[in-house]
Amino acid sequence: MIQIHNLHYSYPDGTKALTGINLHLSEGEFFLLCGPNGSGKTTLLRIIAGLLKPISGSILIHGLDLFTHLKEIRTSVGIIFQDPDSQIIGETVREDISFGPENLGLPKKEVQERVDWALHRMNLDEISEKPCYLLSSGEKRRLTIAGVMAMKPRVILFDEPFAYLDFPGIREVLKYMIQLHQEGHTLIVTTHDVEKVIAHVDRMAILQKGEIKAIGPPEELVRELSQFNVRPPCYVLLGKDKISWLE
Ligand SMILES: Nc1ncnc2c1ncn2[C@@H]1O[C@H](COP(=O)(O)OP(=O)(O)OP(=O)(O)O)[C@@H](O)[C@H]1O
Ligand SMILES: [Mg+2]
Repeated sequence: MIQIHNLHYSYPDGTKALTGINLHLSEGEFFLLCGPNGSGKTTLLRIIAGLLKPISGSILIHGLDLFTHLKEIRTSVGIIFQDPDSQIIGETVREDISFGPENLGLPKKEVQERVDWALHRMNLDEISEKPCYLLSSGEKRRLTIAGVMAMKPRVILFDEPFAYLDFPGIREVLKYMIQLHQEGHTLIVTTHDVEKVIAHVDRMAILQKGEIKAIGPPEELVRELSQFNVRPPCYVLLGKDKISWLE
């Protein structure tokens, strides 16, 4: 589904953000990309979303090269940024969700149907006409997820989705992610705070200084996290079996 081969990326100021990333993801996988601050998580997600172009290496999505088929592939990959304010552009909730499907050039009726569906899915019906700047952090996060869902992408990338959220907000976003996974979407979630999601992912990778240092099922990697400066979940520290944030 996603095949990344020997990917390198440097920012214009010379910072080497990714050095030789190799990663293969299967269709429908729920994948966790963790690593400390500055390890390259956001850079990698932005490249997979087609927002940054690598200096070398390749990315195939559904067998197509991302950068030679950018227009078609962009519609099948959605990204939810860490900071909702940098993603929200509409004046009202409804208007913001409609931008994506409108940009796909869909007929008005279908745009309307998708917006209503996404509003309902993300429990935003009651605030559909509310100005976006008045929303709480949790509502803003739900809005950005709704905006991406209205585009119906097969792959959804979440960059630090739990940032700024309180306990119920984290659980709510986690529930939506689990639902999307159950519906067959491929999900990649980045975080340095693995505890919130690790109980639900199929596989994970640990990124450090732009390199993947370890990759595998969470049961195998969970005890290695601290050596890469990632805090292990409490259940590991307490010597218990995995515990979900939904329990
Ligand atoms: N626009 C930029 N220009 C120059 N360097 C950048 C830029 N954006 C990121 N970097 C650098 O690239 C490296 C990787 O950054 P990135 O944002 O991908 O890390 P991250 O793992 O997402 O970190 P965090 O956990 O803090 O979100 C860091 O060294 C960072 O300083
Ligand atoms: Mg980041």
